[in-house]
Amino acid sequence: DSVGIYDVVIVGGGTAGLVIANRLSENSYTTVAVIEAGDLVFDNKNVSTVDGYGLSFGTEIDWQYESTPQAYAGNKTQTLRAGKALGGTSTINGMAYLRAQEAQINSWEHLGNEGWNWKSLLPYYKRSEHFQIPTEDQCIAGASYDISVHGTSGPLKTGWNTGLLGKSVTTLVNATYASLGLPYIEEPNGGVMRGFTRYPATVDRELNVREDAGRAYYLPIQNRTNLDLYTNSFVQRITWDETSTNSTPRANGVQFTDASGKQKTISAKKEVILSAGSLRSPLILELSGIGNPAILEQHGIDVKVDLPFVGENLQDQTTGAGAYSSNTNFSGAANYVGYFNVADIFGNGTYDLNCTVRDSLLQYATSVVEASGGIIDQKVMEKLFMIHYDLIFKDQIPISEILISPGEDQMAFSYWGLLPFSRGSVHIQSNDSTTPAAINPNYFQLDYDLKQQIGTAKAVRKLASSEALCDIVTGELSPGLQSVPLNASDEVWAKAVKEGYRSNYHYIATAAMMAQDLGGVVNTDLLVYGVDNVRVVDASVIPFQVCGHLTATIYAIAEKAADAIKSRYY
Ligand code: FDA
Repeated sequence: DSVGIYDVVIVGGGTAGLVIANRLSENSYTTVAVIEAGDLVFDNKNVSTVDGYGLSFGTEIDWQYESTPQAYAGNKTQTLRAGKALGGTSTINGMAYLRAQEAQINSWEHLGNEGWNWKSLLPYYKRSEHFQIPTEDQCIAGASYDISVHGTSGPLKTGWNTGLLGKSVTTLVNATYASLGLPYIEEPNGGVMRGFTRYPATVDRELNVREDAGRAYYLPIQNRTNLDLYTNSFVQRITWDETSTNSTPRANGVQFTDASGKQKTISAKKEVILSAGSLRSPLILELSGIGNPAILEQHGIDVKVDLPFVGENLQDQTTGAGAYSSNTNFSGAANYVGYFNVADIFGNGTYDLNCTVRDSLLQYATSVVEASGGIIDQKVMEKLFMIHYDLIFKDQIPISEILISPGEDQMAFSYWGLLPFSRGSVHIQSNDSTTPAAINPNYFQLDYDLKQQIGTAKAVRKLASSEALCDIVTGELSPGLQSVPLNASDEVWAKAVKEGYRSNYHYIATAAMMAQDLGGVVNTDLLVYGVDNVRVVDASVIPFQVCGHLTATIYAIAEKAADAIKSRYY
């Protein structure tokens, strides 16, 4: 039962998918369909409320996937959040608009992805952005920027919330970060991130609502007659053109269940684009016969393309929290961020850590190869880890992010490692698309990740006990001096870190843009290897973590991908 024929069918109307839908439908002769499992959420207060972070967690718009028991962290599972709505995860996220460090985008090119570097991506960051210049009051409260790195006429509104905490709090927080030697930076989105600053958000300041992908990329163009949206519709698999004489398989549409639960098909004349997110797009590939033959055959799926790295290379970060009681009530948006490099966190211990990690790279690679069941090549993994190591120790890009949120009776800190080495995977567990996947991020698999997180937890305690906060902070609530005394050993810290962590929800690389022999799934045009006309455009293609939060970079990647798609056909 077919719902229609389109030039392009996009699976997932999320952060990346709606960029593609918008840009491709700019040409009124191109017909585009978006199939989205969730619903419209423009009237959902859990989404639009600018200071409502967390309200949507556990509701019907949160996929709340569950990880497998985490072997290196007490065998507990983790809840992995992702948005199920038009706008995808941009409807439930923390709204931070932060890009990446120049060197790490350049590392994508060092991996062999020609044309993917900071300089070539910057115009796409700008193309997506509509930067709202801060008001005078916001500038006084610490909002700062360099206009040359921002876009002012793109679809996505960025800027600062109304109701920011004021200047005196900013001065206090800045002095707190400075107590660890961290410099102030005026602009975190220009490719240099180390320092503390007041970061912008994805927000529509005038309407005072969250700016998600739906509002930015869909709402203004919803009446285009060449663009159709199917909501509450769940895609199962790609369908293939069995009559094609091409030597490579050619997709001709997808199968899905519609809002009423009926089985439907939709046809794509040119392309199928998967934008279902890092924890879904690889599963749709597998269910369609693209992946590791051992996994596909186990579930009775015919192998269309032998592409063993589908679902591998999963990378996420881990978040920790520190909570301190305070004698002062603060109310207002914080947006205070500090980006620390390895020397900021480890000081005199940096040299020792450097030597330990360098000497461990081989063993790290071996662990990852073993965990993958031997499908990843040892030499390849060593090469990837060498690039990773260089970013941390040679380029000294930020390794830790610490947010300070002064609140009511409390000073809250959250922190995470930006560049964990650990790698996991996401795979189907059945040929039924509704069966939950096996999602294993392998948190703390490799010891650098734990060392980094312990170092950062200690830095948080130092910040909280700095002179700047001594008149305000009255005690430590979490982790608490009872479980982690002042002179606690790293073993004690490790226990607290592993007990208290959660996913940072920055899943990437499960269909990585890399050469095939490095473990890639898509090429530099984001076309899936071995297939004529299927692309992946979402966080799955990001090969290495970025220091910023993901959406800024995903919007830019999708803008660049839209250009690649247009240039193939027009
Ligand atoms: P995204 O998840 O946006 O889109 C995938 C879409 O596909 C969804 O709409 C989904 O419903 C749909 N879909 C999935 N399977 C389907 C199927 N089978 N059929 C049809 N549709 C299907 N980033 C940031 O920049 N700043 C921040 O502050 C934060 N904070 C944050 C907090 C939380 C709680 C989370 C979970 C994440 C963040 N992030 C973030 C990360 C960021 O929001 C996230 O990485 C991106 O939005 C992901 O964009 P994608 O396009 O990859 O997938």
